[in-house]
Amino acid sequence: MKPIYYPEPFRIKSVEPLKMLTREEREKKIAEANYNVFYLASRDVYIDLLTDSGTNAMSSQQWAGVMVGDESYAGAECYYRVQEAAQKIFTMPYIQLVHQGRAAEKVLLPILLEGKKYAIANMHFDTTRAHVELAGARAIDCVVPEALDTTKYYDFKGNMDTARLEQYIKELGAENIGVIIMTITNNSAGGQPVSVANIRETRAIAKKYGIKFMIDAARYAENSYFVKQREPEFKNKSIQEIIAATFEGADCFTMSSKKDAIVNMGGLIGCRDKALFEVIKQRCISFEGFITYGGMSGRDIEALAIGLSEGVDEHYLQYRIGQMQYLAGRLEEAGIPFQSPVGGHAVFVDAKKLLPHIPYYEFPAQALAIELYKEAGIRACDIGSYMLGNDPDTGKQLEADFEFTRLAIPRRVYTQSHLDVIADALINIKERASTIKGYKIVEEPPILRHFTAKLRPLD
Ligand code: F0G
Repeated sequence: MKPIYYPEPFRIKSVEPLKMLTREEREKKIAEANYNVFYLASRDVYIDLLTDSGTNAMSSQQWAGVMVGDESYAGAECYYRVQEAAQKIFTMPYIQLVHQGRAAEKVLLPILLEGKKYAIANMHFDTTRAHVELAGARAIDCVVPEALDTTKYYDFKGNMDTARLEQYIKELGAENIGVIIMTITNNSAGGQPVSVANIRETRAIAKKYGIKFMIDAARYAENSYFVKQREPEFKNKSIQEIIAATFEGADCFTMSSKKDAIVNMGGLIGCRDKALFEVIKQRCISFEGFITYGGMSGRDIEALAIGLSEGVDEHYLQYRIGQMQYLAGRLEEAGIPFQSPVGGHAVFVDAKKLLPHIPYYEFPAQALAIELYKEAGIRACDIGSYMLGNDPDTGKQLEADFEFTRLAIPRRVYTQSHLDVIADALINIKERASTIKGYKIVEEPPILRHFTAKLRPLD
């Protein structure tokens, strides 16, 4: 794959200065951060690829919307605007605002999992897994086996393994499964898309066994762009039509607005059932705030209403996915392994392959993230065994299917020369890969430990 690119469909009106520390300073900073990138101050980071979540650059239209935002406690104008936009895009009648994706999970998952033992997903994102566990259930991942081979081309590596799903349902008992979740795109598998055919098939299985079907819609627009490119039925459909096909027949969805809706804060819950919506609203009032603002300020709601439509613009999506394809193309030329074909919001470098001498319990993807910071002030993160954590029943370190160092690209923020800096840094690291050492954890909390754990390099 040649490093192709699509030029930015915007120009830059406001800039944020960046500075690069010296290598010596960076080594000191990462040691002071206990080798946990979440403890680094952003002023000490040159290119921040920690996440594509809430790190987006808003448009001039959205900034103008910030001024228009209505801050009324109840019935604000922006509430009606966002309702209308979300109902139209997601084709669901009932929409509830919340302050971010995990808030949506906190409100909705305990309702779906009441008296149940399991949630099954193509893959749970870490906060989704946490909320399943907090609700007293267990989270089971059921992605297609093609996803596990990072070198193998497959159009839809995010798909649910539907045969295995049905087997799980039979083994565990449909009555014990509270919800089947489809995460689009499949973040933990590498921002990999899910086909509409697979969504339909999964939905049909859920229906057959009377289990609720939920979409984790954080990257619904990027997923739809891939569907348009790769699923022949949708070649001539608009992004909006593909989103409608994606959500058709789903019982409910949770969404972090901080990704494809191109804002810095926000989340949504949607559903089709009025009775379920009544329960959602009640829980939302106690956790998030009154139903017409759901934990958000009016200005943020207004920006969201605008971002929802900017995020489904096809030219924007072509440039957006094009950035991943450019970076992935440069890495491929240099023989750096990554989840291929590249996904929608990030390049997931395969640290298991790049650092084969580091075992999963010494966290190769975390080691590579730290190396990237030392090399060029780039902040990436581990999506591997370090993030997965310990078995909640036995307390033993789990082995993740992947050891990814994720280079998540914020929307509309970095230029092509930033992408070149990232590629060049990885090429330099590859030269000395065999000298890189693993890490051990010296302090960790029981849930979502990767955010706050402290680590030390192994000798
Ligand atoms: N679901 C998925 C698929 C996600 O990727 C995220 C967040 C969430 C739910 C939770 O949303 O952050 O708004 O509470 N992902 C970010 C990431 C944090 O870096 O991938 P949130």
